[in-house]
Amino acid sequence: MAQLIDGKRISQQIKDELKAEVESLKNQGVRVCLAVIQVGSDPASTVYVNNKKKACAYIGIESEAYELPEEVSEEELLSLVERLNQTEHVNGILVQLPLPAHIDEDKVIKTICADKDVDGFHPQSVGRLWIGEKGFLSCTPAGIIQLLKRSGIELDGKECVIVGRSNIVGKPMAALLLRENATVTIAHSHTKNLKEITNRADVLIVAIGKRQFIGPEYVKEGAVVIDVGMHRDENNKLCGDVLFSEVEKKASAITPVPGGVGPMTIAMLMNNCVETVR
Ligand code: GUN
Repeated sequence: MAQLIDGKRISQQIKDELKAEVESLKNQGVRVCLAVIQVGSDPASTVYVNNKKKACAYIGIESEAYELPEEVSEEELLSLVERLNQTEHVNGILVQLPLPAHIDEDKVIKTICADKDVDGFHPQSVGRLWIGEKGFLSCTPAGIIQLLKRSGIELDGKECVIVGRSNIVGKPMAALLLRENATVTIAHSHTKNLKEITNRADVLIVAIGKRQFIGPEYVKEGAVVIDVGMHRDENNKLCGDVLFSEVEKKASAITPVPGGVGPMTIAMLMNNCVETVR
């Protein structure tokens, strides 16, 4: 039976550490404020945004919510971001993705001042990450590193395979694992012999967005398996990219869905908010 990597417990631990830090900052007269912008009313985005606001309230970070209609023009959104860039008491700016098709996401991300880029999506944050400079880290990969470290899983010299090459997860994950001295492979939809490659992994990180795609035949005996996926199964229950019930028999440690990677993303966003004033 694999060790269950408990993202709920570890994210709570991080949030409690941040709460104490924010309390002490408050005593020194330092406030932290996050501006959250949501365009339209996609139900999944609303859930994510509400969870972010709740986490802010728990830790003692102030949050300001900006809800814009689906039809808002790109120009109006950019001018709100520019205004928040100039607003002194706003330390972090988050624009919930995805944005409606008529808005250029890259343009919006680039407009956020790099010093307030708590998502870690700005090219300046990405560049800093790759050259090993201090900066905002993309929240999901940073959360995965915390999950592994706080579960006592050694990364130095390990074979790590990431399945998925997105800008939000796969690519920054590779940079962070390199920082930990792991040997890193990124596999993706055009990869040949995927099974052969994933079977090399001491640590397998799956972020492909395909429901229960990774079965035990993709996993080496004793591997650590991290599942970034989030789907509904045929009984409408939450599940990941990994076929948990089968893979857990082969893995030495595994993250569940829900309660694995998901809660870590918000904890690391909160960490980035506090980082703006450290
Ligand atoms: N949509 C899904 N995940 C994220 C995230 O981490 N940040 C933002 N801004 N939008 C998202």
